[in-house]
Amino acid sequence: MPAGVKTEVRTYQTYINGEWIESESGKTFPVYDPATEEVIAQVPDSNADDVNRAVSAAKAAFEDGPWASTTAQERGRVLFRLAEKIRQNAAQLAELEARNCGKPIVEAEFDINDVATCFEYYGGLATKVVGYVNPVPDNAMSLSLKEPVGVAGQIIPWNYPLMMAAWKLAPALAAGCTCVLKPAEQTPLTALEIANWLADVGLPPGVVNIITGFGETAGAPLVQHPDVNKIAFTGSAAVGKIIVKQAADTVKRVTLELGGKSPNIFFADADFEAAIDGALFGVFINQGEVCSAGSRILVQKPIYKKFVDAMTEKTKKITLGPPLERETKMGPLVSKEQYERVRSYQDIGKKEAKLAAGGGRPAKFAKGYYVEPTIFYDVDNSARIAREEIFGPVAAVIPFEDEKDAVKIANDTPYGLAAAVWTRDIFKAFRAVKALRAGIVWVNHMQPTYVEAPWGGYKQSGFGRELGPGGIEEYLETKQVHINLNEAPIGWY
Ligand code: NAI
Ligand code: MG
Repeated sequence: MPAGVKTEVRTYQTYINGEWIESESGKTFPVYDPATEEVIAQVPDSNADDVNRAVSAAKAAFEDGPWASTTAQERGRVLFRLAEKIRQNAAQLAELEARNCGKPIVEAEFDINDVATCFEYYGGLATKVVGYVNPVPDNAMSLSLKEPVGVAGQIIPWNYPLMMAAWKLAPALAAGCTCVLKPAEQTPLTALEIANWLADVGLPPGVVNIITGFGETAGAPLVQHPDVNKIAFTGSAAVGKIIVKQAADTVKRVTLELGGKSPNIFFADADFEAAIDGALFGVFINQGEVCSAGSRILVQKPIYKKFVDAMTEKTKKITLGPPLERETKMGPLVSKEQYERVRSYQDIGKKEAKLAAGGGRPAKFAKGYYVEPTIFYDVDNSARIAREEIFGPVAAVIPFEDEKDAVKIANDTPYGLAAAVWTRDIFKAFRAVKALRAGIVWVNHMQPTYVEAPWGGYKQSGFGRELGPGGIEEYLETKQVHINLNEAPIGWY
């Protein structure tokens, strides 16, 4: 493309009831490429009226539409066809994802593969939902039936945009729910693209509706809407708390995944090279914009100095660059807001601890929301950089004495999403697994995530579990059915 020629800025519409329509207000807002700071699309600025329309469509589809009478087999096949479409278009989707959120293309390709896998997994699980026969002490048959929860409102973040959409849409659809999905305002494009295929793969109108917009004007009305039966949310702890309060008025089912300040613990006997890699991968993958980022790196004192030096040396060699270049290992942060937030934590860290690497903006980029991968060491666990989620490539390295000390520091956080422990001693490893208060614990690794295994947090990292067989349970109600087998009056009166 000749210099100075811009790609077309596409204007999207809202996807409601199987159609692309204008938003009520007709207003749109810009979506950016964080590497160039240029506008790449315009999307509808949805408001409460749009939410009402989307929820009405979802409610009608749930109650009266053909979706209400689909079999589990048919729902499974719909999800398989959607997965297939995603696989066929994986290259374009990965490119759009990388461009819109700044992640390296190689990582975006992994994400899109996981998106398809997620639809396949829940496509298979659709036919494995079973109820129970309850052994009640009477001449009766007692059943527990599993039924879809109804209309699901799904509010997702910008760090893994299509993957977060898949984690919520796939189990909901397998269960027989209908959905109103609100992507993050920064990164709505890949979700809008897959909307193009929903009718083709066999989803009736209204089963999935996608509204773009901001949290307070499009997210909040969805949370408050009386016809929405469940809210699934991934995002900040601050918004999670608002959602729980607002959902209370209509007693909605809520599941929350709110990130954390996850400890990555290195004992002196760990494989040293693997440990350094694991520490960096744990905190810097996806620019550190990861809910389970191992942002507190706990290192046992005998290897502490050597560890910080080795991490620093490797960090200085990390290739920052445009997301679409295949050598890029770290792209820009998603937005100006997130850039400023992370930059401010780099400054806070300089007052609270010692700086080993990074700490600023890389000089080589004139534009784009790039920040240097940053390592602070001698961090006290009470420091803000050890307590607050930064959501960027900023590591806080904390020394510890022994096993007891490590577990105490690791658990001293309001969060509890993830933790990892590195050692060759299986007794030490298993004791740590048991003692760590987190929803996901890795041993000698950090970050691998599989659709087959549950994901979610303890404490203020949220509640409910996505993925795995339990992921579909969050979209199911249990109906107890009692069938009297006595053909006579009960004879009480
Ligand atoms: P956020 O929590 O504001 O946004 C996440 C989603 O919630 C977006 O779709 C947003 O539009 C929606 N939202 C915002 N306010 C809402 C409201 N009042 N009612 C309903 N929906 C609402 O996160 P933000 O501002 O983009 O990032 C701030 C921090 O949140 C990050 O620095 C990071 O620490 C954390 N975060 C955690 C994530 C995780 O995976 N757990 C993902 C994204 C952000
Ligand atoms: Mg916010």
